[in-house]
Amino acid sequence: MTDNYNSETAWAYHYATKHSYTSIRANPHFLDRSNQPLPFKIYPTLEPLYLPVEVRPTGIAALSAIAESVPAKTNAVPDLEGVAQLLYLSAGITRKRGYPGGEIFFRAAACTGALYEVELYLVCGDLENLQAGVYHFAPAEFGLRELRTGDHRRVLLEAAGGESAVAHAPLTIICTCTYWRNAWKYQARTYRHFGWDNGTLLANLLAIGTALGLPAKVVCGFVDGDINRLLDVDPDREVAFSLVTLGHIATLPPQSPVEFSRLFLETVPISSHEEDYPLMREMHAASSLHSAEEVKRWHAQAPVPTSLPSAGPLVQLRPLSDAAMPRDPIEQVILRRGSSRKFDRTPITLAQLSTLLDRANRGIPADFLAPMGSQLNQLYLIVHAVEGLDSGAYVFHRDRGTLECLKQGNFRTQAGYLGLEQELPADAAVAIFFLADLRPIFEQLGNRGYRAVQLEAGILGGKLYLGAYAQRLGATGLTFYDDDVIRFFSPHAEGKSAIFLVAVGNRARRKS
Ligand SMILES: Cc1cc2nc3c(=O)[nH]c(=O)nc-3n(C[C@H](O)[C@H](O)[C@H](O)COP(=O)(O)O)c2cc1C
Repeated sequence: MTDNYNSETAWAYHYATKHSYTSIRANPHFLDRSNQPLPFKIYPTLEPLYLPVEVRPTGIAALSAIAESVPAKTNAVPDLEGVAQLLYLSAGITRKRGYPGGEIFFRAAACTGALYEVELYLVCGDLENLQAGVYHFAPAEFGLRELRTGDHRRVLLEAAGGESAVAHAPLTIICTCTYWRNAWKYQARTYRHFGWDNGTLLANLLAIGTALGLPAKVVCGFVDGDINRLLDVDPDREVAFSLVTLGHIATLPPQSPVEFSRLFLETVPISSHEEDYPLMREMHAASSLHSAEEVKRWHAQAPVPTSLPSAGPLVQLRPLSDAAMPRDPIEQVILRRGSSRKFDRTPITLAQLSTLLDRANRGIPADFLAPMGSQLNQLYLIVHAVEGLDSGAYVFHRDRGTLECLKQGNFRTQAGYLGLEQELPADAAVAIFFLADLRPIFEQLGNRGYRAVQLEAGILGGKLYLGAYAQRLGATGLTFYDDDVIRFFSPHAEGKSAIFLVAVGNRARRKS
């Protein structure tokens, strides 16, 4: 059995999956379009239970929904319409685009390569118009397929080491990730994408949860094998990555059926053949937890120290006043979001940037972030065009609401290079890098800290997307040259690792 606290595997995975100028050229990867994975998991023998398609207006401004969360013990239970809304606005199909080889079904949250490797499963007690069961969400039909009948929440509670949010949640959504669906394009780097792509989806889910008045919590600590068995997924192909509790009730779930059996349900193969990247499965095994006691100990870890000294000149953020704050509701913003394909190099304002950073960084309710408000990733910015802020490199002090200038200058060319030689981070108004010191994270959270730090980055990145689109700006997630990013922000960033990148700016209008 692997030991979560022997972090050699996580370091080895991290190093082996870094991108660099030379690694990209040494390992050209050609996509076999004839073997492209299906973007959906299909259970051909199960009839879907169709979900209501009407999107109920929440009236909650996106900039509030991404910033706030409902207090943990607020009694609230989603009904079927609420469930539909949570699913549609986090993982539903919101746009379609034809291309010569077929059709892309774009989803509510951004995802690397539009490959959508994250599947959602529901585990609930009796809800209004939805009976207790374990369900798979099928975005193509916008329906649920019942995998198990009856209340199985006790299985989750035990697997999550007694975590209180799981104990009192009428509904928990399990997010799984399917290796090959993303590795077809991204090879072994896919395990990082699990965190990123699961994270952007969770940013939407948390925001909708808030808008519907549901307390929510992201749970990363659970006995992997127990959750995978409950869903009866093949763990060599698909693994549970995170849980999200939604709602709160005082009563605890009843005892589950003592033994639940294998389901042996047929699923449609996603490709004619799959390639295996053992490094990812090793990473997953090394970050797995094996017993409720181990989960309890993991949950009891002291917070990860992430203090950030400041020495350079500081600029105070100045978010928009309440009166000037855009109030577009969260569902509208999610439906108009899409990754910007081109930025026009025009400036955004310091108030817009301040609002974005302030609203996206107010804290995530997650079991690996105790006390609420702590954060594993630190934000470093390359500012190209922000009115009221000199161009240059900055680090964000979220506790003080300030930006510390690390160096001044025009770094558009460097930003483009760091973002894997793409134009987007060069043309944006600002490129926001997420960096983390993995050493204390591995010390406190072990290899599982690697899952947590990637997931947190995805959630924060997803909030940046929503915060940008709420202000009618554009945004896109991006990949990067790992060590060059650290060199660029050093000496301040020395010893840290690059985790994620989001570019924000004004979208270039398409020529008509
Ligand atoms: C973590 C992450 C990394 C991404 N990296 C890139 C990238 O390097 N280059 C790019 O053009 N788009 C990138 N994207 C954008 C995706 O291609 C886009 O999300 C996907 O095609 C779905 O489209 P949508 O975001 O418009 O819904 C990234 C998105 C995410 C979430």
